[in-house]
Amino acid sequence: MGLGRFIGTLFGRSIDPQKRREKKSFQESLEKNVWGFIVMVAIVVSIGGIVEIVPLFYLDNTIEKLSREEDSIRPYTALELEGRDVYIREGCYLCHSQMIRPFRDEMERYGHYSLAAESKFDHPFQWGSKRTGPDLARVGGKYSNEWQVQHLRAPRSLVPESVMPDYAFLEGYKLDGVLTEKKMRALSMVGVPYSDADFAGAAAAVDGKTEMDALVAYLQVLGTMVKFEAGKDYRE
Ligand code: HEC
Repeated sequence: MGLGRFIGTLFGRSIDPQKRREKKSFQESLEKNVWGFIVMVAIVVSIGGIVEIVPLFYLDNTIEKLSREEDSIRPYTALELEGRDVYIREGCYLCHSQMIRPFRDEMERYGHYSLAAESKFDHPFQWGSKRTGPDLARVGGKYSNEWQVQHLRAPRSLVPESVMPDYAFLEGYKLDGVLTEKKMRALSMVGVPYSDADFAGAAAAVDGKTEMDALVAYLQVLGTMVKFEAGKDYRE
């Protein structure tokens, strides 16, 4: 017995070319035919894709509603909305996320994990992905307004080791309210339920306020709309 034949018998394969041709399985012939293989991969991947996508066409909304009592999620007021725009303009999201993940360490530090419904009126949402600073998803009510203002003016006056920039200049800029109503109308086009009264009162609601006031109003509402009860399961 030659060495090749011996190895062949060891692995249960015949090295006789004639016999090997007879035994070719579908898989084997496919693996040796690049075009056939490409077509087969395309078919299999398409089936996988269709199975994932088709159910989405039958759902009106991928965000499940919370039950009535706890669904107190409302659109931002005119002032909070202006504050949110300052938050976006200043790039706060580059250092802060707004998305508490359902892990024990995150929940012990930041509170209940974020629910999809909590950002349903956020266009665009501010989940972020970078945490140079802490998550802000539930920072609302954690500190007083005075603390927030002082911290934004000079973060190191309250947290000496902070690397957050100073935002004292926000106090020097008054909101003019020219675009507030338009912003609300634009959001209502993508499903945020603002009323005519909201539009009518938009400019007056921000009149005389500074960008600092608006930003603090926004920070103070973050994560406070759903009233969580201890021991209740809010899994969506
Ligand atoms: C360069 C990164 C950076 C940027 C940009 C930044 N922050 Fe911070 N922020 C931090 C760090 C670090 C901390 C933690 C230390 C501290 O409290 O100052 C922090 C803390 C905070 C806190 C306190 C959070 C808590 O739970 O104690 C708030 C509120 C906050 N930032 C808001 C903002 C806002 C609003 C902006 C945009 C105007 C902003 N930050 C921009 C880095 C940043």
